[in-house]
Amino acid sequence: MSFFITGTGSAIPGLCVPNDALSGFLDTNDEWIRTRTGIRQRNILTSESLLDLAERSAIEALSLSKCSPLSIDMIICSTLHGDFFTPSMSCLLSKRLGINCRHMLDINMGCSGFIFALELAAAYFDSKRVKRVLIVCAEAMSRLVDWEDRSTCVLFGDGAGAVILEEGEGLIDLACSIDGEYENLNIPGIEGNSPFSQKRDTMPYLNMNGQEIYKFAVSAIINDITSMLEKNAIPPDDVAYYFLHQANIRIIESARHKLKQPEEKFPCNIESCGNTSSATIPILLDEVNRQGKIKKGDVLLLSAFGSGLTSAVALLRWN
Ligand code: UT7
Repeated sequence: MSFFITGTGSAIPGLCVPNDALSGFLDTNDEWIRTRTGIRQRNILTSESLLDLAERSAIEALSLSKCSPLSIDMIICSTLHGDFFTPSMSCLLSKRLGINCRHMLDINMGCSGFIFALELAAAYFDSKRVKRVLIVCAEAMSRLVDWEDRSTCVLFGDGAGAVILEEGEGLIDLACSIDGEYENLNIPGIEGNSPFSQKRDTMPYLNMNGQEIYKFAVSAIINDITSMLEKNAIPPDDVAYYFLHQANIRIIESARHKLKQPEEKFPCNIESCGNTSSATIPILLDEVNRQGKIKKGDVLLLSAFGSGLTSAVALLRWN
């Protein structure tokens, strides 16, 4: 027993920041960002909280699935960092939505968080502890990057994506992997002001070796996808849509060419949203779902990679 996705939702902040707006305070330009990444703009939090975005995306997903908040048995929130260290985002969200369920938790699995959340949910479905699960991936990347570092801050945006899962046979297979390598992609924690600790020379901003992550991403995505398809005897042509983590259009295109698939099977919104970490796949899924493009019985492949280093892949059948 596992799940079907029965509702999707998404929310992005009101402020849209085009590439040109960044060259006002950074040594960068629209052409570099567009050609190296595919990004034209991103949305950034101003007066809204991250919880506001999480709530909006969850309400949309609940409404599309036509289920009451009271029927939700579990909330999983994926975030690198919510509005608070504690309480968790899932606790705060349950209060906002009036959900009083026994199972709720936050996970921090970087950009692969949505697929790790699906895996966790599958275990709860399989042990018959839940019938309906709400997953919300909400990320405020604008708070975590160094706005003086042009090699990272131009890549990210803020946003939230949500899904409702209900009992069903929609999960074909899923695989997650972690290698523990952290030096090429990390965000150090805060140091605090303990008079007893030795000060480290780190700032709580995202550090990334872009070229190393690029190489990891291309090989992880293609290995994950080909082994998942082979294991389940599904030819690449039989997948209706490939939903890949939106980090760089060149990474997505490289996977698409290796799989010899047409452009329309690889939906993309990196141009308008940038990289919203674990929220990229659920936001994109919501966009494509609302366009009515996904049909009952369609096979969807989801693939992500991120800090950990992690990579994760899921094969789903749409209800
Ligand atoms: O979900 C999180 C995972 N993160 C990723 O997936 C990131 C994966 N990596 C990438 O997407 C790419 O490596 C980047 C987009 C980050 C960088 O692209 P690149 O083609 O690997 O560029 P590069 O790092 O080799 O930099 C090329 C040049 C450098 O200048 P020099 O040394 O050639 O003079 C950089 O200093 O581009 C320069 N540069 C910039 N120039 C204008 C770096 N950032 C910028 C910028 N604007 N924003």
